Amino acid sequence: MAINTGVNETGSSSLFLPEVATLIDKREMTDVDSFFTFKLKNRPLGHRYGQFVELSIPGIGEAPFSISSPPTDDHTFEMVIRKVGQVTAAIHSLSPGDVVGIRGPFGTSFPMEDLKGSSLLFVTGGIGLVPARSAILYALNNRGAYKDITILFGCRDPGQRLFTDELAAWSTREDITFMETVDKCEDGTWDGHVGVITTLFPNLKAIDPTDTYAIIVGPPVMYKFVIMSLHDMEISDKRIIVSLERNMKCGVGKCGHCQINNLYVCQDGPVFYYDDIKLLKEAI
Ligand SMILES: Cc1cc2nc3c(=O)[nH]c(=O)nc-3n(C[C@H](O)[C@H](O)[C@H](O)COP(=O)(O)OP(=O)(O)OC[C@H]3O[C@@H](n4cnc5c(N)ncnc54)[C@H](O)[C@@H]3O)c2cc1C
Ligand code: FES
Repeated sequence: MAINTGVNETGSSSLFLPEVATLIDKREMTDVDSFFTFKLKNRPLGHRYGQFVELSIPGIGEAPFSISSPPTDDHTFEMVIRKVGQVTAAIHSLSPGDVVGIRGPFGTSFPMEDLKGSSLLFVTGGIGLVPARSAILYALNNRGAYKDITILFGCRDPGQRLFTDELAAWSTREDITFMETVDKCEDGTWDGHVGVITTLFPNLKAIDPTDTYAIIVGPPVMYKFVIMSLHDMEISDKRIIVSLERNMKCGVGKCGHCQINNLYVCQDGPVFYYDDIKLLKEAI
């Protein structure tokens, strides 16, 4: 099964020319993560689940960020941005009404249409929930199109939990399985599961490995251990879908910053079937 490519479907006259987007809404999620809603002036973003955009702040720089919302018709799209350096600090200092530059959407996407009729197992870690959320919301909005839906979320500590209202809503739904964990909690503010995300796997109800696709998005260290657990469950590499993050500049396969051997993660990815990249050194 091929992963969809999104390059050259931007609607922009140039892949390198940013379009103006206005900040509509901004909310703090954790001490370092904030939620942003942007709106393009002239068109819907036209993205698919798991794609990213290049966001620029004039005079500061440009950086890639995933889209966290499913596609909408009203020209808005959502992102969660972690403050780690210059560009992200500048984005955090924006106020509603301020404008930024947007190029994209770019990259491959979670093949949600192709997965219809199967069961889905989302394994998300930390800020990996951000791109996965676009696919999760699509699957939940089209609940009848999929068999079992299981969502696992793990983060470092309770203060790093994202989309807490949505996590609470997922935990009460009877038509899906939702489990979450934190790596550690030293202040007694968490009475849920403690341990890395793979410690949730023994609590999963039986999963049919011949009928389930696993979608993994999280920090690099997570992939190897999650994939080992999926192999223990006899889920084949052709049924494992990963989203990889690499340092990117151009986002369109020209600069080589994101290259792994002959692959450009910005263009051939970030979403891959694990089977297609498992032999590439440094991919996982
Ligand atoms: C496809 C893709 C999707 C992304 N989606 C999101 C998202 O939804 N939300 C979000 O907050 N961030 C996301 N990122 C990471 C984001 O692009 C970086 O945090 C950003 O480029 C940092 O820019 P800066 O100028 O603020 O920091 P810099 O000053 O450039 O760097 C600060 C620190 O962050 C590290 N860093 C910079 N870029 C990356 C990177 N790509 N991956 C890991 N570490 C990096 C640097 O090594 C340095 O330690 C994504 C990256 C990619 C490639
Ligand atoms: S970011 Fe430039 S080639 Fe991928």
